[in-house]
Amino acid sequence: MPTSAVGKLSVSPTRTAAESREKEQELKKESRKTQNLLRGDLANLSFVGKPSTLLAKCWEIFCLFLISMANTILIGMQWGDEGKGKIIDVLTAQADIVVRSQGGNNAGHTVIHRGVKYVLHLIPSGILRRGKICVIGNGVVVDPVALVAEIDGLHKLGIKIDKNLFISSCAHLVLPYHRILDEQRELRRGRIGTTKRGIGPAYGDKAARTGLRMSDLMQPIVFSKKLQAKIIENNRILQALGAKPISFREVNESYLAAGENLRPFVANTVVYLHRAIERGKKILFEGAQGTFLDIDHGTYPYVTSSNTTAGGACTGTGVPPHRMDRVVGVMKAYSTRVGEGALPTEDAQLTQRLHSLGREFGATTGRKRRCGWFDAVATRYAGMINGTDELAITNLDGLDHVDPIRVCVAYRLNGKRLDVPPCDACQLANCEPVYEEVRGWNTSTRAARTFSKLPAAARKYLRYISELTGAKLSMVSVGPARGETIVL
Ligand code: IMP
Repeated sequence: MPTSAVGKLSVSPTRTAAESREKEQELKKESRKTQNLLRGDLANLSFVGKPSTLLAKCWEIFCLFLISMANTILIGMQWGDEGKGKIIDVLTAQADIVVRSQGGNNAGHTVIHRGVKYVLHLIPSGILRRGKICVIGNGVVVDPVALVAEIDGLHKLGIKIDKNLFISSCAHLVLPYHRILDEQRELRRGRIGTTKRGIGPAYGDKAARTGLRMSDLMQPIVFSKKLQAKIIENNRILQALGAKPISFREVNESYLAAGENLRPFVANTVVYLHRAIERGKKILFEGAQGTFLDIDHGTYPYVTSSNTTAGGACTGTGVPPHRMDRVVGVMKAYSTRVGEGALPTEDAQLTQRLHSLGREFGATTGRKRRCGWFDAVATRYAGMINGTDELAITNLDGLDHVDPIRVCVAYRLNGKRLDVPPCDACQLANCEPVYEEVRGWNTSTRAARTFSKLPAAARKYLRYISELTGAKLSMVSVGPARGETIVL
């Protein structure tokens, strides 16, 4: 092929992409302007011209409004447990559909509403709001027995689940041998500190192309045949590890029974979501875990087995990137982590203080979370990976009587200053945080409902950590209840 032809082929698509990006940016800018106008300053809208032009203009504004309000990816900017459940619950008010795209029942999203505490593991938190549709996407690994138990638990709390839940027929299944393998590996050296829900082995089978999916479970004869072969193979592995073999009959029976319970919800969720988008529905993509637990970008090997970052929302649901409109990153006003692996800003005193307040115990396993100071090196990097547009800062009240407050602005490794975390787990473990100290506010923030009602030192702290992270602050949470939220 002549060089010029190669040049042409490689340049023109890039230009088209750049052009369309520019166009999209323009559109977004335009839409933001429109939103501002719609919000308050309606007097600025002066239409001059014929009624048909006016109609066209109205339609244009309506379309732009739809675009700007549309699809939101919500992710954790730290090591999970950022308080995403509550923020998702608040954002669900603006959404029609809430989708989970990755992870399994290792997640634990806590929502407190009218004094009732709901902990959701597999079902999107949107289920708590009437009229919202929830989707468990293809990227999620589903333990059908656990899912049926979760549905039953919600029924008992008065939450109706019927036509408001869809489960992807492509979602992989978590089976009992996955859980036992997970437990067995955790008994050995190099443990990760997993939730022991079988998540790693289930995603392992998916990648090895030997997994079972919801579609298999919907065909009892196919399922039983595949399951039998899998149990024979896995029993050999379990026995080699010193664990008891499992009974095909028992697993087959309980899974088929769970499958029948779930049958009404199983669907092609890709088609459902695309049709919904065509109809202008707004979708909230509910992330589980956090950026530094991402299988690719996290602190490997101390990570979970899925893509917890923004890209996972596309692969885990089949909704393409150009249909995503904004990314909201959730981060605590400090850092926490459960399980093994480095937490560079870990601080024993802060950990003890938060535990003594009854805070920072895991929602899924009840384990004590390790706590540390806010780590801007980590959140800045999370901002890059996720393309975070807006920030929701949670647990501000956890720092209410802490003074001074430390903020990690860089790491030091072998005498060198680092502005981004190293990829290697050992290097990360050897990083020393470089801190700056800021003043605390020494008073409760729980009653504040507007940004201006927060103490000046708290406002300064929030602005500071948002600036260091590099995204716009749009929400602050000062307590676990729905109402204890400040929207900026
Ligand atoms: P797994 O996802 O159970 O395999 O656990 C892998 C790592 O991710 C462990 O360190 C867990 O503690 C952590 N992890 C998994 N799910 C969550 C979560 O929802 N919040 C916080 N940490 C999690």
